[in-house]
Amino acid sequence: MANRGSGGARRGSGSRQTTVKLKTARGRTPSSQRWLQRQLNDPYVAESKRLGYRSRAAFKLIEIDDRFKLLKKGQRVVDLGCAPGGWTQIAVQRVGAPERGQVVGLDILPLDPIPGAELLQADFTEADAPEKLKVLLGGPVDVVLSDMAASSTGHRNTDHIRIVMLAELALDFAFEVLAPDGVFVAKVFLGGSERELLNPMRQAFRQVRHFKPPASRSESAETYVVATGYRGRPNAAEPSEEG
Ligand SMILES: C[S@@+](CC[C@H](N)C(=O)[O-])C[C@H]1O[C@@H](n2cnc3c(N)ncnc32)[C@H](O)[C@@H]1O
Repeated sequence: MANRGSGGARRGSGSRQTTVKLKTARGRTPSSQRWLQRQLNDPYVAESKRLGYRSRAAFKLIEIDDRFKLLKKGQRVVDLGCAPGGWTQIAVQRVGAPERGQVVGLDILPLDPIPGAELLQADFTEADAPEKLKVLLGGPVDVVLSDMAASSTGHRNTDHIRIVMLAELALDFAFEVLAPDGVFVAKVFLGGSERELLNPMRQAFRQVRHFKPPASRSESAETYVVATGYRGRPNAAEPSEEG
């Protein structure tokens, strides 16, 4: 499943899946009951367990990379918001770290070690977080990934603003560390305020595309921006394009 071109853990892909129904709520709230029921019946969850991935999110990066062919052997990758570690595991496999390339992951949460990766526990909104990361990096970075998302407030607009802010911080970091032709991938929620993010991206990268991997739940507003062909930090004096 982790190999290139392997696709995801789609329903009806051959393996028979029986629907698990929870018989009792056992003191769970209705929303945690729904979450548990969904987890138990999610083919991506089952497949990530089978393959030893730390999260079902691993399949999102597999699908993004299978589509855009971003990760190559020997590359240096930074994975922001990496806990519990599914994306980091995939990045390690695909670049061949630590023998060939380097994968550095950061999260505000503690993480168990991931073979082949270097991990940093830090809040990326803290001013010194980028410097701490740079100390670990052995040179310019080929790919900056950000799957960062603060826990939901339940208020759609607030969640959206927070996720765009994290993506903007990640983009700013990418401008500092990316090598020419580098790649930037970030989670965003669809909605108007991501324009502040897209305008500088369109100036700095040759191509900027949106992609919602099949592993991203359809009911979630989450999607990913995939920017390729880094040309350099945009000139602040240049007027930004609309749209
Ligand atoms: C959707 S999860 C990432 C899943 C991960 N890509 C994987 O494959 O396992 C989002 C992560 O962003 C992290 N995060 C949120 N705000 C952060 C911040 N300010 N600094 C660092 N990490 C943050 C959360 O702790 C959480 O682990």
